[in-house]
Amino acid sequence: MRIRTFFDGRAKYYEKIFSLPMIKRLEQAEVRKIVSLSEVAGKSVLDIGCGCGKFLKLWRDRGASTVVGMDFSKSMLGQAKQKSNFLLMGDAFKIPFKDNSFDFVACIGVANYYRNVEALLKEISRVSRNGIIITFPKNSLIGKIYARVSKIPIFLREEWEIKNICSPYFELLIKECASGLTFVVTSEVREKDSTARLQRSE
Ligand SMILES: C[S@@+](CC[C@H](N)C(=O)[O-])C[C@H]1O[C@@H](n2cnc3c(N)ncnc32)[C@H](O)[C@@H]1O
Repeated sequence: MRIRTFFDGRAKYYEKIFSLPMIKRLEQAEVRKIVSLSEVAGKSVLDIGCGCGKFLKLWRDRGASTVVGMDFSKSMLGQAKQKSNFLLMGDAFKIPFKDNSFDFVACIGVANYYRNVEALLKEISRVSRNGIIITFPKNSLIGKIYARVSKIPIFLREEWEIKNICSPYFELLIKECASGLTFVVTSEVREKDSTARLQRSE
């Protein structure tokens, strides 16, 4: 099944899954961790794969100057409408913004679905002027069970793999969520080239 079709079909009840007690506890802890690691005060933020928009308000509450949500699923964006007016449909592998358009770029729960994420990381580093936050599901026992029952492939990763794939683009800081299910990568984008540096200092 294609990823977009999968999320289009689940959008209506996607958020309800997280109200189940055990899942809710794990999820809330992860959300708290992700938000606490997001240095967004005074910054413009692009949330790639924003889904139903869970993080859009949280980043505004932390002082982000602008928060734009992007997703390729029309139905997930339909759910996000209740939380934000700044939404657009777009593919994370072909982000419809110019280089260095946002101070901070987030990509939460998206890399899970792709075997090859290099093109995704390249796009994220292209549109981010500075900070990023990305999550990857950890190769844990619960992760393996989840991947087994999931209707679409889920790619679980070890910390060393994440380091290898991200380090060409980002100065890495990898934290493991207390749930033991997710790695959170925060970073500054590596210096791109002199043109990008010039644009930044203008
Ligand atoms: C697991 S949900 C996470 C949603 C949100 N970031 C959150 O943490 O609540 C993954 C989202 O990524 C979106 N997505 C997956 N691949 C994408 C792509 N290539 N371009 C844009 N959105 C994508 C899906 O449509 C879905 O809404």
